Amino acid sequence: MKQKVTKIGVLTSGGDSPGMNAAIRAVVRTGIYNGMEMYGIMRGYSGMVENDIVKLESRSVANIIQRGGTVLKTARSKEFFTPEGRQKAYNNLKKLGINGLVVIGGDGSFRGAQIFSNEFDIPVIGLPGTIDKDIAGTDFTIGFDTAVNTAVEAIDKIRDTADAHDRLFVIEVMGRDAGYIALHSGIATGAENILIPEKKTDVEQMVAGLQEKEKRKKLVNLVVVAEGDGVGGGEEVAKIIKEKLPNQEVRLCILGHIQRGGAPTCIDRVIASRMGYHAVECLMEGRYNVFVGIVNNRMCYTPIDEAVKKKQKINDEWMKIVKILSS
Ligand code: F6P
Repeated sequence: MKQKVTKIGVLTSGGDSPGMNAAIRAVVRTGIYNGMEMYGIMRGYSGMVENDIVKLESRSVANIIQRGGTVLKTARSKEFFTPEGRQKAYNNLKKLGINGLVVIGGDGSFRGAQIFSNEFDIPVIGLPGTIDKDIAGTDFTIGFDTAVNTAVEAIDKIRDTADAHDRLFVIEVMGRDAGYIALHSGIATGAENILIPEKKTDVEQMVAGLQEKEKRKKLVNLVVVAEGDGVGGGEEVAKIIKEKLPNQEVRLCILGHIQRGGAPTCIDRVIASRMGYHAVECLMEGRYNVFVGIVNNRMCYTPIDEAVKKKQKINDEWMKIVKILSS
């Protein structure tokens, strides 16, 4: 029989993402509203293994909805991925009587949650917190909107200086395994080419397109590259373009971790609040070991086991749009 959840532990894991604090706040306050005891687990699964767990009250999460990063801190724990580490983590939760968990993170964090929930009798609810937006089963992930807007703001600024000098800029955005930031920010800034890990780039075709533009004196060009694209990231792409277009002034800009920080946008705060609220509702209703997503503006619950197997697919039409609109 399913045990009633009375004490919930919440943690953030993997790469931080703007809006994680809003999600923590929502989980904690919804739990307290429903008479539960709430605990913050520090530094992701590491805090679970090392017993770094603090009691949270309603005021503990005051004044954080607008802040980037995560007040619980985050980490990628190696020890948790060993059976001994997970046993230690379970014992620590048991000692405190924690009988429900909310894990806010990306696919790696969900993988940890999956293994843990299959091994032990503590139900886990996942919230998709990642700037990469690569989790199937949700239209949004917490942090993506902020990150992509940060990238757009930066690329707009680069366009100003590119235009002033008639230069070609290669801009590397985040996304080791996912091209969503590149795709969205590239379309929003009018990039000529967008290179992403999910699609093989035809380098010759890209170069031929840029050479054709050079011939007709279109010298201001933006090439947006996800860090994990198949060609080798921004540096490699800039090198190839420099070699093949020796008359063009080519510059490289790597946006890096600025994309992970900053105040969350309204969208990220709202989805984090909705998802956090529903995570607690799930635990109360006995809807266990799922992650909470939003699809067509409705809450959607996907078994974590399924979520870790799938990636969100890139729509081919988007790549076609890039090509047509950048001519
Ligand atoms: O998963 C989010 C993400 O920002 C990826 O886009 C990026 O490749 C990775 O994390 C970077 O990780 P780290 O901060 O550990 O270098």
